[in-house]
Amino acid sequence: MMNLMTGVFPIGAHLAGWRHPDSWPLTNMRLDVFIEMAKLAERGKFDMLFLADGNAVRAMDDPIMFVANTNTDRPSTYDPLMILAVLAQHTTHIGLFCTAVTTFDQPYLLARRFGSLDHLSNGRACWNVVTGNYEGDALNFGHTEHVPKDERYERADEFVTICKGLWDSWAEDAFIEDKASGRFLDPAKVQRLNHVGKHYTVQGPLNVARLPQGYPVLASAGQSEAGRELAARHAEVIFSVALTKAEAQAFYQDQKARVVRHGRNPDHVRIMPGISVYTGTSEAEADELYAELQELIPSNVGVASLSKFCRMDLSGFPIDGPLPDLSEEVVGMMSYRKSIDQIATQQNLTIRQMYKLIVPSAGHVTFKGTVDQVVDQMEDWYRSKAADGFNVSMPVLPRSLNTFVDLVIPELQRRGLFRTEYPQGNLRNILGLPTPERQINPNGAWQFHKPA
Ligand SMILES: Cc1cc2nc3c(=O)[nH]c(=O)nc-3n(C[C@H](O)[C@H](O)[C@H](O)COP(=O)(O)O)c2cc1C
Repeated sequence: MMNLMTGVFPIGAHLAGWRHPDSWPLTNMRLDVFIEMAKLAERGKFDMLFLADGNAVRAMDDPIMFVANTNTDRPSTYDPLMILAVLAQHTTHIGLFCTAVTTFDQPYLLARRFGSLDHLSNGRACWNVVTGNYEGDALNFGHTEHVPKDERYERADEFVTICKGLWDSWAEDAFIEDKASGRFLDPAKVQRLNHVGKHYTVQGPLNVARLPQGYPVLASAGQSEAGRELAARHAEVIFSVALTKAEAQAFYQDQKARVVRHGRNPDHVRIMPGISVYTGTSEAEADELYAELQELIPSNVGVASLSKFCRMDLSGFPIDGPLPDLSEEVVGMMSYRKSIDQIATQQNLTIRQMYKLIVPSAGHVTFKGTVDQVVDQMEDWYRSKAADGFNVSMPVLPRSLNTFVDLVIPELQRRGLFRTEYPQGNLRNILGLPTPERQINPNGAWQFHKPA
C-alpha cells in the first residue's frame, strides 16, 4: 500500500500560491487554518501531516525573496511541536510529523518533547531529524559560521542514539500506581543511560514514561553521503528529491542498499519523494491553475528562487541563457543543486525555463493533468520502485488539498493503491513499521546510594 504525507504551510507550496484568489486570505499565525488542514488531510486518510522547521528568519540578505515571502523561508511560524500538540487534540489518526534540528539542541530536551507528543497523540509522533541546512541558523546559537557538515552529521548520529537510549528508560509496565500497596512505580523497571560520548554526556533516565510507539517514527531528508548514511542507520521514513523517475529510482536503490548494509530490513523504511500536484475535474482546469500561478511570479523573484535552490546568485546571468556550472559542492541544499544541474544539462534549459520548471513544485517533480494522468504517474513511480509513497506538495491551500482529497484519493483507492480506512493502532501501524523493542542497558540499573 502506498504511503502519503503532505507538508502544509498555509501559504501553499507554489511560490505565488499565497497570491491566488483560492488561497486563504490571511495565513500568518492562524491556528484555525492549521486545524482545518489537519482535519482535511485526515479525511483523505493521509499517513502524516508534515511541518518543516528551522531556527532563523531566512532570506534577509536577499531583499527580493524576503519581501516576496517564500514558501520555505517561513519568516514567522509556530514552533511545530507546539502546533502538533494542538492538532493532536483535533484529530484521531493522522501522523504528526515535524522537523527538529539536532545541531543546536540537546538530546534530552528533544527526546522529552517528542516523547510528550507521542503520549499526547496516542502514538502519532514522527521526527524529521535534520542537521540544519541554513547557515544563518548557527548565528543564533553562539556560532559565527555554520557548523561543518561532517561534524553536524556526526553530532546527529550521537544525538539520535542518545534519544533512543532515553526512550528505553522505562519499561511499559513501570508505573504501577497501586493505591492499596502505596507503590507508585517499580524501580526495577527503569534504567539510566550513562552516556559519555564525543559531543554529549547524558545520564538519564528520561522523565517521560515509555512511549506508545516505543520510539517516535524517525525520518530524515539529507541527500549527501553523510545524510544518506545517517538515514540508513536510523530513518524509517526518508524524503527524496528527484525531478525524474530515473533519478528517484537511483536514490531508492542506493538508500535501500545502505539500509541493508547497516543490518536493517529495507521493508521497514519508506522512501517518499516530493511531488507537486496540479489537477482538477479536467485537464483544462489543471492547466489553468498552473498558468495562473506561473503568471503571478515576477521574473526577478523566479531568478532569486532558482538562485536559492542552486546556492548561487544567478541574477547577473542572462535570463534566457544557460545555467552556469553547478558541479562544485557547497554548504546545504546539495540535493536540489545536483538535481537542477543534471536536468539543466540534459535538457539544455535556460535560467527562465529552469525556474519555471522548479518553482511550481518547490524543487520537486510536478505531476499535472487529469486525475487519471496524475494517478498513472504516481502508480508508475510506485510500481517501478522509485517510491514507497509520496510527500505531496499542495500549490494553493486549501484548494489543492481539497482537490486531492476529493478527486485523487478516491482514484488511488479504486485502483487498490491506497487505504480506504485507517488501520487500528498508532502511526507505526499506519506506516506498516515494527515497534522497537526496549534495549536493556547492562550498566543502567537503578541503585540507591545513600549520601555519605
Ligand atoms: C522534503 C525535505 C524537507 C526538508 N525539511 C527541512 C527542514 O524542515 N529543516 C531543515 O533545516 N532542512 C530541511 N531539509 C533539508 C535536509 O535536511 C538536508 O539538509 C538537505 O536535503 C540537504 O542534504 P544534505 O544535508 O545531506 O546536504 C529538507 C529536505 C527535504 C528534501
